Order: sequence, then C-alpha cells, then structure tokens
Amino acid sequence: MNGLTNPPGTWILVGCVLVSLVISRCKGTTGLPLPPGPKPLPLMGNLLQLNITRPWLTYTQWRKKYGDLIYFRLLGLDFIVVNSEKVARALMDQRSAIYSDRPFIATKKLFGVDFSTVMLPYHDSDWKLHRKMFHHALRVESASRYHDIHTKRIRPLLKDLLYDPSHFEVHIQRYIASNVMAFTYGYDVALPNDPIVATVKELVDILAKALSPERSAILSAFPILTRLPAWLPAAGSRRDAARARALAGHVLNVPLDLVKKNIAAGMATHSMVSDCLAQIDEKDDQQKQETAIKAAAATAFIAGFESSSSTLHTFILAMILYPDVQAKAQAEIDSVIGTTSRLPEFEDRPLLPYVDAILRELLRWIPVVPLGIPHATSKDDVYDGRFIPKGAFVINNVWAMSRDESKHGADIEEFRPERHLLASDRNLSLRPISADPIFGLGRRICPGRFTAEALIWIAIVNILATFRIVKSKDDLGGEIDVKREFTAGVAVHPVHFSCSFVSRSDERASAL
Ligand code: HEM
Repeated sequence: MNGLTNPPGTWILVGCVLVSLVISRCKGTTGLPLPPGPKPLPLMGNLLQLNITRPWLTYTQWRKKYGDLIYFRLLGLDFIVVNSEKVARALMDQRSAIYSDRPFIATKKLFGVDFSTVMLPYHDSDWKLHRKMFHHALRVESASRYHDIHTKRIRPLLKDLLYDPSHFEVHIQRYIASNVMAFTYGYDVALPNDPIVATVKELVDILAKALSPERSAILSAFPILTRLPAWLPAAGSRRDAARARALAGHVLNVPLDLVKKNIAAGMATHSMVSDCLAQIDEKDDQQKQETAIKAAAATAFIAGFESSSSTLHTFILAMILYPDVQAKAQAEIDSVIGTTSRLPEFEDRPLLPYVDAILRELLRWIPVVPLGIPHATSKDDVYDGRFIPKGAFVINNVWAMSRDESKHGADIEEFRPERHLLASDRNLSLRPISADPIFGLGRRICPGRFTAEALIWIAIVNILATFRIVKSKDDLGGEIDVKREFTAGVAVHPVHFSCSFVSRSDERASAL
C-alpha cells in the first residue's frame, strides 16, 4: 500500500506523533524551539547518554553535533550546556540579571552546605552580604596585601619538598591551606596534620563526588538513596551526607571561635574575618552579620583549598611530562634572578613572561573545575531564536572552551605555553588571567581569583627556581612511568604519581 492510499486514521496518528515531537522541543508561551540536543527518553531524559563521572566529555562530544548551546533533560530537570566562551559571555555577562542564580540543589541541606556562598540564590540578602565581604577582602588591590603571607610560606614549602619529596601532594595542600587560613582567619597552620585542614580536606572530598549537578539530579529524583539505613551497601549517599554535615559544622565554627578568642586576648592578626567582625554594624542585626561572616569565611576555605591545590598538583605533573617546558622556564628564571640563594619574588613577575604562560596553560590544559559551578535562569529567556526556560541548570562547559582550536591553536591536548605568547615579541596576550572563564563568568565570578593567581604563581616560580622535577627511579634504577590520569568530580586532580625534586643550586638549597 503506498502513502496516497493510507487510511485517514494512519495520517491522524502520524500527525499526532509529529505535533507531540514538536511540542516536546518547544516550551513556554513563545512557541520557539529549545536549543538543539539529544532526544530524551520519557522520565529519565538523557541520563543513559551521559558519562556521569566525566560529563564534560559527553558535552564536548555533543558540541560537534549540536553546537555551542545545547538543551537536554535529566530526570525531569532542564539543562542548558554552553560550549563556547562567546555564548557564555553573551548570556552570563551581558544578561547577568537572568543568568546569576544557582539551581535548586535538594541535597545541599542534607550535606550541611546550604550556608555556602556557592549555593546561595542570587536574590538572597546573605549572598549580597557575602559578596560585599569578599569584594572588600579579595579584590585586586586587597589581594596584593597578601603577597607577604604567600612569600612567607614559600620557604617551608620548598623545604618540605626537598626533605620529604614523596609526600609532595600533602605539602602542596598544606601550603594552600596555610595561605587561605592566614588571610581568611589569621590562623597559622603549623602542624603537618593540622586538624582543621584535615576536616576541610575530608569535606571537600565528599562534596566533590556528591554535589555535581548530574549526581544531585539523581539524588533529588531518587531521594530514597539518601534515606536508606546507613548499613546497607547502597546507602553510601546517606553515610556521606551525615559525615559531611558533621564536618561542615566543624569548619563553620571552630576557626571563627579561634579568631574571637584571639581578638578577646588582643592577639588577633589582620584577616578577612577580624576585619569583618570589626566592621559589624551595631544598628543592624548583629547575629545575622556574624552568621554571614562565618559562612563566607568557611566558603573561602572550602572553595579555595581544593581548586588551588589541584592546580599545583597538575603543574608538577605537567613539568614531568614536558621537561622541555620546564627547562625553558628555568633558563628564563636564571637569566633574571641568577643561581644564587635569592628566591624569585612578586616584583620579578613582569620579567618572567614564560612562567606566566605556564600558569595560563595550566588553567587551560586541565581546567580544574571543568564545568564551573552551574548557574540557573531566574526567568524565561530567548537567545538566538531558542527558548531557554526559567529554572534551567546552565552549565558553562569550560572544558570545551579550553579545547577551542580557533582560539588556542593546534595540538590542543598538548601542554604548550607558547600558545599564550604573541609570536611577534614574546609578550603575553593581553587578557588578564583573572578574566579566564576557568574562574567563572558574570556576577558569580570567583571572588578569590586574584588571590588564587598570586599564590599559585609564586609557588610555581619558586619550585622551578629551586628544583628539577623528574621521574622517580625504582630499585633497579629504571624510571617510574608517569601517566596523564585525573580523578573525576566537580574538581579534578591528577591521580597519585611519584616524582623526585632535585635541587638545582646548593647555595639556594642550603639557604632554605
Ligand atoms: C585555581 C583556583 C580557583 C579556581 C579555578 C576557582 C574557580 C571558581 C569557579 C569556576 C567558581 C564559580 C563561578 C561561577 O559560578 O561562574 C568559583 C566560585 C567561588 N570561588 Fe573560586 N576558584 C579558585 C580559587 C578560589 C579561592 C582561593 C577562593 C577564596 C579565597 C575562592 C572563592 C570562591 C567563592 C566564594 C565562590 C562562590 C561565588 C558565588 O557563588 O557568588 N575561589 N570559583
């Protein structure tokens, strides 16, 4: 039977299917289509098409088929993926009034982190208070006040790497934690196994696994997973949530109580928390202000710790995998500061463009937060003729942006700092590092970006000046292979590897 002789019922059926397909790709009153994307299944949406541990790989793959703005569904929730910086800027920066909210993450209270700046809704008065405090303490002019804090912590880091190289990951974490604790609370992390640092580390590990938007969507859709008795094998989420709540309570209260004790004893040093406590407006709700200070400070520690230490771990890995890059940077450093006991300082930075290019390439090569932190739309929007619904998760796929060959050039998976140097005069490209999408966009942009840049730069330049970072040797003298392998989660870091730190100058090493 050919099409012309089909009974009318068949045509009605085909028509209904077509109409329902069109309706499922349009939303709201505009009648405009949603952005393109993979076809969802009923209820589950696109769950089965997603690499749930490394979703950025799926989204980057989808870019080839669907482009820079993609729509998909996950367990009844709307997701928008932004795959290019151009579109991300058009939405997050130019329409920031619509794109600055956070999605509702049902699990944030369960995991005890609903206080965090990162989680607060855009219109929440606490979020505005937090941002005001961060602006005061961490804006570009304030960040340079912390240079002494960073410099003071460099010698202990280099000493730790020299005498106990096998635990380099722990030393880097301590360096970052002691910096963040110093400028946030005026607290000196003296012991290698400081209890507050250990608490934050454990909390961050749980959150990084549990609170990705994709996992949160699953936990929100199947809340039963968080209610199973803790002894059942499938009850990991409930156990993690209970542990995270206990740890978060500790991180919120213990360091703040220390600062208050120090203030009372007249021993408090200058810090974000002591400054904010001193500025509490007595005419306003004092309890609310103190709660906000406590929450913002704990957020700085949680948000700054993992991201910054993972970036330095990746730096060590890159230097082992790319010894030519390492040698080139060391030649540049030697030509500026010599090979005496002097260590590089912030004042040397303008003369060291290749080291700066290494930092830029580090942020591009393996973006530590490959999908940023999801934004959410606070009302319906239309972009480029496509309908974007209110309340959608908006994911900035920084991973895809960092792999844009039209912007970064060829050999995109290779670590090649030269791509950031202008060919003509070897000067750095003009955009400041703090404007890189790795630090987010729009009104939610990372307030710690200037501080992060400074404390990572000073560590990189000093490690390069002091050591040759090489592969470790086994008992037979053979080199132990190092692989380019990374963990998954909200933030990624290299899987543990071993390496050696060989001193480049006896004079410098003995002065540590
Ligand atoms: C390499 C280091 C770092 C990276 C790559 C990084 C990246 C990010 C990203 C991608 C966001 C989300 C931005 C958005 O929503 O568009 C963010 C938010 C945030 N970061 Fe950072 N960050 C780093 C270090 C730090 C440090 C050192 C601090 C504090 C001292 C900090 C404090 C925060 C806070 C408080 C937020 C929440 C902002 C909000 O929701 O309004 N970060 N960061």
